[in-house]
Amino acid sequence: MVMNFRDKAWIFLAIMCFSLLICSTKALVSYDHKALIINGQKRILLSGSIHYPRSTPEMWPELIKKAQEGGLDVIQTYVFWNGHEPSPGQYYFGDRYDLVRFIKLVQQAGLYVSLRIGPYVCAEWNFGGIPVWLKYVPGMVFRTDNGPFKTAMQKFTKKIVDIMKEEKLFETQGGPIILSQIENEYGPMEWEIGSAGKAYTKWTAAMALGLSTGVPWVMCKQDDAPYPIINTCNGFYCEGFKPNSVDQPKMWTENWTGWFTEFGGAIPNRPVEDLAFSVARFIQNGGSFMNYYMYHGGTNFDRTSGEFITTSYDYDAPLDEYGLLREPKYSHLKELHKVIKLCEPALVSVDPTINSLGNKQEAHVFKSKTSCAAFLSNYDTSYAAKVMFRGFPYDLPPWSISILPDCKTEYHNTAKIRSPSILMKMVPTSTRFSWESYNEAIPSSGDYGTFARDGFLEQISMTRDKTDYFWYLTDITISSNEGFLKTGEDPLLTICSAGHALHVFVNGQLAGTSYGALSSPKLTFSQRIKLREGVNKLAILSTAVGLPDAGVHYETWNTGVLGPATLNGVNSGAWDMSKWKWSYKIGTKGEAMSLHTTTGSSSVEWTEGSFVAVKQPLTWYKSSFNAPVGNEPLALDMNTMGKGQVWVNGHNIGRQWPAYTAHGNCGRCNYAGIYNEKKCLSNCGQSSQRWYHVPRSWLKPSGNLLVVFEEWGGDPSGISVVKRTNK
Ligand code: GAL
Repeated sequence: MVMNFRDKAWIFLAIMCFSLLICSTKALVSYDHKALIINGQKRILLSGSIHYPRSTPEMWPELIKKAQEGGLDVIQTYVFWNGHEPSPGQYYFGDRYDLVRFIKLVQQAGLYVSLRIGPYVCAEWNFGGIPVWLKYVPGMVFRTDNGPFKTAMQKFTKKIVDIMKEEKLFETQGGPIILSQIENEYGPMEWEIGSAGKAYTKWTAAMALGLSTGVPWVMCKQDDAPYPIINTCNGFYCEGFKPNSVDQPKMWTENWTGWFTEFGGAIPNRPVEDLAFSVARFIQNGGSFMNYYMYHGGTNFDRTSGEFITTSYDYDAPLDEYGLLREPKYSHLKELHKVIKLCEPALVSVDPTINSLGNKQEAHVFKSKTSCAAFLSNYDTSYAAKVMFRGFPYDLPPWSISILPDCKTEYHNTAKIRSPSILMKMVPTSTRFSWESYNEAIPSSGDYGTFARDGFLEQISMTRDKTDYFWYLTDITISSNEGFLKTGEDPLLTICSAGHALHVFVNGQLAGTSYGALSSPKLTFSQRIKLREGVNKLAILSTAVGLPDAGVHYETWNTGVLGPATLNGVNSGAWDMSKWKWSYKIGTKGEAMSLHTTTGSSSVEWTEGSFVAVKQPLTWYKSSFNAPVGNEPLALDMNTMGKGQVWVNGHNIGRQWPAYTAHGNCGRCNYAGIYNEKKCLSNCGQSSQRWYHVPRSWLKPSGNLLVVFEEWGGDPSGISVVKRTNK
């Protein structure tokens, strides 16, 4: 056939149109009432949260690979503002904060990214992710219709979006990001704040949309998320959730796989039967995006954890803190994911018909022209049901769903666990320590680095959270005519603190310690103290244990000694110490000298051998050690220590505090019905956290420097290196 010019022109035009069509569908992430549409395809998306700074870059590829093998399509992460902008305008995107590297690794593994920019994140992360310096910008009020906050929030959000665009990371640019989140669970906050909150929501939405990312934005727990922003659900169950608009898909941004641990609290866990049930129930009810929060919880290294949150952020997630498979959770969910994927064509093309199969049993059937998938559910929490479906019998254990990707064969039941349980163990290694100790002197008023004021100063306004430690120092002068010295009745010292822990030293001796808890960060130290005639030195070390991450205007919450403070039982009556002149000192001596580093630690004389301090407060310990051979993850057993921090080769591995839990909170884990993190607990009467993850990549084969700071007294001879393994 001979083509004339007109024919050729038509063919050219047709090719152009076709490729344009492909390009434009490729360059589009949109949605309808069923699902997100990517590259023109409606998708059922299974997602999991992995927060990049909660592991090391060396761990990322393996974590992402395991997530991909576990059947996930998407990795979800928050963006951690206070990690990226430690001081105003000074940005940091290195090492564990290398967000671009993390996203590119996810892309290389063939997965999508759901980017929760926030920039407020909650997340049991220090100050909810917002930099502490922001609090001190004049006129600042967080998360409301406040000019300074909106300016700062917009600047950071835009900065992140710009970086993502420059690196071509949005799906519309060929990258993996299919979804972004602005703010975090602002709905309940808006409800409490009122009209200023409503105005802030509108502004936030418009600001985000104005950044033109090309992919949909979500706002979680935001009933009034302005269109086209999608409101999403967070919780242990979300089957009954409804998006704001009939043309928006039903999405679940946080399906809690367990729960976080607080210092002094028992360790929560969520049985996989219940987790799998919640997923299947959400999908059978038309849900199309489900994210596990967390898929890998990881570690709150350094001082990144929120108020009273343990260093471990294991979360009972499918990948444990160390990145190992938690079984049978991981494999049972993997099986569930495979089966959901088999149902995908039916799930995205039709709405289900729902038939009753019994009193508390139902069938959800997705039947299209070409496919059929059925979910048979038993909502009864104690009785196994035998049901008939399309003429065949099915056994449904209590609180379970069977999935039939062909409307006939049961491929999976959420409560029938086929994967074996694997018990993880902490196995001793041959690594030995040879401890040296250094006792830091207790400061007193007038020392170098102290400054004096009348009355009490709030702690964070002074430390700006550069350290956990803040000293309150004063002299108590007892004249010879104060009778208690003769009667022998010691005076009662009462100090009220807004949080989080206090160590009280009288004349160089530790007189006592008090601390609060997540449920009540405030504390009162009240104890009789030994005083002598003349000048007595009172030194109070106030210790912050992370800053709050949630609550209405949590940025206004105080830390440290704010009074009242009284001394009772002296002859002249009760002394109100809150108006006294107090001297202050920021941080410890050891911090000022960088004792956690090789150079810093060589600047002081350390005590060795049998003179090494045991059970003494304010003690620094150091030892050199060799890395155990092999590649199993490693941890430090810190159970014989009191409270403080730990560094390995200069890396802060986090706050150490075994923090024994109350006995008796652990009951039978009766999850079926409504799971509640307070019911499924382990470790009652034991440490909240005994083991502290030491990433392999922070170690060399030999000559590693381990430094421990101990606040109130511990025995370093009990510290050991263990391997985490299932052998
Ligand atoms: C949610 C919050 C998350 C995290 C979670 C509990 O309400 O959005 O950031 O804090 O609770 O782990």
